[in-house]
Amino acid sequence: MTQSQNRKPIRKAVFPVAGLGTRFLPATKAIPKEMLPVIDRPLIQYAVDEAREAGIEQLIFVTGRGKTAIVEHFDMAFELETTMAGRDKSLEVLEPTRIQPGNLVTVRQQVPLGLGHAIWCARAIVGDEPFAIFLPDELMIGSPGCMKQMVEAYNEVGGNLISVLEVPEDEVSSYGVIAPGKANGALTEVKGLVEKPKREEAPSNLIISGRYILQPEVMRVLESQEKGAGGEIQLTDAMARMIGEQPFHAVTFAGKRYDCGSKIGFVEATLAIALEREDMADEVRAMAQRLLG
Ligand code: G1P
Repeated sequence: MTQSQNRKPIRKAVFPVAGLGTRFLPATKAIPKEMLPVIDRPLIQYAVDEAREAGIEQLIFVTGRGKTAIVEHFDMAFELETTMAGRDKSLEVLEPTRIQPGNLVTVRQQVPLGLGHAIWCARAIVGDEPFAIFLPDELMIGSPGCMKQMVEAYNEVGGNLISVLEVPEDEVSSYGVIAPGKANGALTEVKGLVEKPKREEAPSNLIISGRYILQPEVMRVLESQEKGAGGEIQLTDAMARMIGEQPFHAVTFAGKRYDCGSKIGFVEATLAIALEREDMADEVRAMAQRLLG
């Protein structure tokens, strides 16, 4: 692969959002878990904001049944906007939900066969260019954002990149884990990848934290892939097969990460973000002290 092919800009991002969200039932019976709000923005909005900050133009949602609220959220709400304008209300709050016409695409994952399969469902839209992946459960707060930090690293080294962070050793078996090679600042070479290893077999405690920049060849690997951990078609296994064929690096994200796939992580994100927001911090701090008092 030549240098210039290696550095095609990252214009497209895939958001796998077909999951059933069973951990949040009954809240997620009729609304997608990606629409659960952390304060006043649904989870998916945080991921989309992060994508746009990184220069991504086209959003590809891999959806399933019962997920239409996500697409509605990024559509123009004519009645709402007309009513608000008629009442002289500012429409600025809706700004992050506006997508350039043509830049939101959905594909369906008909059967939940795993994350690798979900990504593969987007192959025709991704086409022959490198692309980003966001797992919206992983809420990444930083300045610059996680994907922007990754795009900056990509502009230097090209190839494939994943965001990683350290977790306590007893948590590694819930994640994809890297075997690290040489490190240089925030960049670490990836020598191997294993999905949900047993604690004693994990090659490190550096886990994949839900942000990826991948070369389109991964789609070909996914095409013929067998099931891996948990009987699912795993993205991690497909990526592992690309190591050695193409550059592969991990980026240690400088920022905060909240695991909004769990209830505790969701509560933590809500509190932490409220404590950072100018419009709420003082009141929330006083309230927390009262509650703990
Ligand atoms: C997925 C990935 C895993 C990654 C994790 C991050 O797992 O397969 O490699 O570490 O997301 O949240 P899941 O949480 O879907 O089981």
